Amino acid sequence: MKSKGQTKSTEAASARRKSKVKSNKESFETFAPLENKTIVLGVSGGIAAYKACDVASMLRRAGADVHAVLTPNAREFITPLSLTTMTRNPTHCEQYEQSSSWKPEHIDLAKKADLILIAPATADILAKLAGGICDDLLTSMVLASQAKVMVAPAMNPTMYGHPATRRNLDILQNTFRYDVISPEFGEVACGDVGSGKMASVESITAAVASRLLAHKTLMGKKVLVTAGGTREPIDPVRFIGNRSSGKMGIAMADALAGRGADVILVSTVEVNRAYNVLVVETAHDMQEVVEAEFDNCDALVMTAAVADFRPLRVTSHKIKKSESGDLVLELTQNPDILDLLGRIKRKDQVVIGFAAESEGLLTHAADKLQRKNLDMIIGNDITVPDIGFGSDDNAVIILGSDGVRESLPRMPKRAIAEHLCDHLVELIARIDESKAEEERDAGDEG
Ligand code: PMT
Repeated sequence: MKSKGQTKSTEAASARRKSKVKSNKESFETFAPLENKTIVLGVSGGIAAYKACDVASMLRRAGADVHAVLTPNAREFITPLSLTTMTRNPTHCEQYEQSSSWKPEHIDLAKKADLILIAPATADILAKLAGGICDDLLTSMVLASQAKVMVAPAMNPTMYGHPATRRNLDILQNTFRYDVISPEFGEVACGDVGSGKMASVESITAAVASRLLAHKTLMGKKVLVTAGGTREPIDPVRFIGNRSSGKMGIAMADALAGRGADVILVSTVEVNRAYNVLVVETAHDMQEVVEAEFDNCDALVMTAAVADFRPLRVTSHKIKKSESGDLVLELTQNPDILDLLGRIKRKDQVVIGFAAESEGLLTHAADKLQRKNLDMIIGNDITVPDIGFGSDDNAVIILGSDGVRESLPRMPKRAIAEHLCDHLVELIARIDESKAEEERDAGDEG
């Protein structure tokens, strides 16, 4: 069922893969955690703003490329010059500042940032972020970025304990998935005592470093990802396909690669990446490649929309209108790749599936989780406009065989992928722990 051109693209990709594996290994040797990391340091207007200089300096010395952004209120407490000196980069203050290029610089910066840290974060900026208000440069950048956001609140203890602030922090943490670096207990600038004093410069930089280091927690792990919709040929011209664009799978592969995983993307969509991309067309092609790679993988993430059926017969010539009146296609079932691999997976392998459902999302996803022996399933309701097939966003439910139940609201597919990476890191860490325990037990017995 595989066309000649298809075999070629698979072989070419396999050759590309071999050379890339080599170059990956070479780059691991020069790996340094905060090097090549771009951090936007947002400073809002509180007395703790003066500590932003120390934060900037520590992050820069750890190798990060730090760019400071001040809110108008922050300028009452600290000058752009101080931060420019500490970051060794221009400090941004004005939302509508003149730029040397036609592209607004801050949008570029928002896009290339690996992380946005807001320290100090006042009650005011937390409220704005929770409400999606973007009336200054910093809040606009946060909204324009898909980077991880961390906030280090600093304010009067009564303000920190106020239900409005608690609610805003809850939204930022649990809906937007921001990291909150909790303030310390102590005496604050106004003389009051309680929780509200910004975390120490050391704690903030450690939290940032561990978040960025966490990005490499899949180093040495091999993860197989599938993306796109398979095409099942009818004749040399026509095929049965589906609406999958590959965006979810590619976002997943990008996020995994960002965490240091050795990624193999098996995709029906051509994409140019530094990791290994194997281009396939049909469900059979995908099955062949995925089965060949699975044994050597620590995890498989099947986001692909694999056709359940294919035409029983594929004609070698283009079917002419004149050959028959109506055309009746006889379809036969394709193998279920995920089901086959779920059955044979080893206990040190993680298998994650996706479920595209048009009704009974929870019930059908839970059924697939159990029936296909998966560790996790990600369900998306494909009837909701602007999410799922083809769109840049998705909204999903996450069900784990360990009882995890979570629902992520609409957000960019990359943000969903980052969140799924967090789960994968946890699942793999659990496997590694139990392996280490088994080895210890075996050692004790010996
Ligand atoms: O590609 P995008 O445009 O970004 O869209 C993303 C998406 C909607 C395709 C994605 O989020 C998604 O839901 N993927 C799974 C689609 C699907 O085929 O769902 P399913 O419920 O039919 O299959 C369940 C699981 O079994 C999937 O992991 C699928 O890859 C796998 N499967 C299905 C059939 C088959 N023959 N073999 C399989 O391995």
